[in-house]
Amino acid sequence: MHKSINLPILYFGTPVILISTLNEDGSTNIAPSSSIWWLGKSCMIGLDGSSKTTENLKRTRECVLNLASADMVEFVDRIANTTGSKSPPLHKKTLGYRYVPNKAEEAQLTTQSSLKVNSPRITECQIQLEASVDKIHAFSDAPIPMFAFELKIRHSHIEESLLMGDKKQYVDPDKWHPLIMSFRKFYTTNNYIHPSRLEKAPIEAYRIRSSKGITGKTVNAIISRLYKKYRQ
Ligand SMILES: Cc1cc2nc3c(=O)[nH]c(=O)nc-3n(C[C@H](O)[C@H](O)[C@H](O)COP(=O)(O)O)c2cc1C
Repeated sequence: MHKSINLPILYFGTPVILISTLNEDGSTNIAPSSSIWWLGKSCMIGLDGSSKTTENLKRTRECVLNLASADMVEFVDRIANTTGSKSPPLHKKTLGYRYVPNKAEEAQLTTQSSLKVNSPRITECQIQLEASVDKIHAFSDAPIPMFAFELKIRHSHIEESLLMGDKKQYVDPDKWHPLIMSFRKFYTTNNYIHPSRLEKAPIEAYRIRSSKGITGKTVNAIISRLYKKYRQ
């Protein structure tokens, strides 16, 4: 039987990322976040309007999405209740947040330079996605302003040991174990439970579907060629 209730939070389980952005003085800020989803070569992230990361993203229009794996839970948790904003807003103070100017040091993480953006990558993260801000959307009518940032992934760096395929071009889901936040607790993926019907199509068909500048007809033609090739 289902019960009708008003949930205080809707954290049903999403991957944790560490967003690295540049502060106005050129130093790096890092923020854990779990409001994220991907579609094609783009990604949407959701952030509290008072975050230092929101301020940095609006100003610099770029960041690195560093995906946290399960074994990074302690690094993430060290900076869970922190902000790069010198004066944390009241709602964060009430929740016990404090100002930390150097989150990399606080978390015991190290950084390395990126190729396409100025924000650095987090070395310890196995998946690092360099991104630029395409659009900024005001999100929901909550008392505290929130924003959804539509990001374009410009460059992906993947730890080699996660890769599979002849040319090592695909992430092996049996090796990639994202850190997942569900209702304020940390989990991960370990149990492979069932094959998926999506697996029947060649994976390259997904690359074509999300490519820009080609017509629907061409996409169909390429996908049917891929089907023939991989069905032989
Ligand atoms: C696991 C985890 C997930 C979080 N997810 C979000 C989120 O999706 N959106 C958000 O605005 N804050 C989220 N937070 C809180 C931010 O980390 C927090 O607002 C922080 O102060 C942002 O840092 P900044 O002010 O330096 O940008 C999350 C925190 C943790 C630990």
